[in-house]
Amino acid sequence: MGLFRIQHNKFEEIFDTDHFDTMHPDEWEGEATNKGINRLKEPGWEDRYNYEAALICNLIEENPHITNVLELGSGPGVLSQKILEKHPNLNYHLVDKPFAKKYFDQNNFKGEFFVKDLSCDFDTSDLLDEYDLVITNDFLEHVLNPSLIVQNIYKLTNPNSIYFISNPNWRMAHQWVYRGLFDFDNFIYFLYTHKFKLEGFYGSQLKTPKYPKIDSETLLPDDHLTDWNHYMLFKHRK
Ligand SMILES: C[S@@+](CC[C@H](N)C(=O)[O-])C[C@H]1O[C@@H](n2cnc3c(N)ncnc32)[C@H](O)[C@@H]1O
Repeated sequence: MGLFRIQHNKFEEIFDTDHFDTMHPDEWEGEATNKGINRLKEPGWEDRYNYEAALICNLIEENPHITNVLELGSGPGVLSQKILEKHPNLNYHLVDKPFAKKYFDQNNFKGEFFVKDLSCDFDTSDLLDEYDLVITNDFLEHVLNPSLIVQNIYKLTNPNSIYFISNPNWRMAHQWVYRGLFDFDNFIYFLYTHKFKLEGFYGSQLKTPKYPKIDSETLLPDDHLTDWNHYMLFKHRK
């Protein structure tokens, strides 16, 4: 049997990893380019955070029991401040890397920030036993072990807790460790295997280029194919 060889230069053509920063020790490091903390100044970010904060604030208003909030991969905490502006009594915990905390501290942001490397590990010993709301906003695709993170989120929540997840649509050409895991159906299945059930999802106000529907998007309505992000709400399943 002959070995079927694929040309190496082909990989370079089809795997665009030039801007792959998931393995970077700290994505927020560096102020000279728009890749570090300066990316917050890019137009569109403010509108996006406002939209996401509005979604989450609505959820908080619909679920008045929500007191303790955990946001993983929060970045410097811009989203959290918008939520806390409307709901100042929340006990809001954020987890990210050192540079994100530096910006959080310099800006005297509210909440409690924990520095952790969540790529392959999640030490929860200094966190609360349970949270009412967990947020991972464009974060799970950045870690090497998303299963471990979701397993721990399950342990840190209860049947009344809600879990808000934002994932980038593959059409916006994001970077991925596990391409395909974040396709709409596959991700819902992944969460289901981790004992979370999708309650629903929200549309995105930003749009991606148009590409046809793929086989792993049967649950995604056609008019949401070009949503920039998929904002999903999960709860424990029975
Ligand atoms: C795309 S950014 C999203 C940031 C923020 N949630 C937002 O929506 O602006 C991904 C975040 O995940 C964080 N992150 C990536 N790998 C991480 C790791 N191993 N441990 C902790 N945080 C990590 C990054 O520092 C970054 O803040």
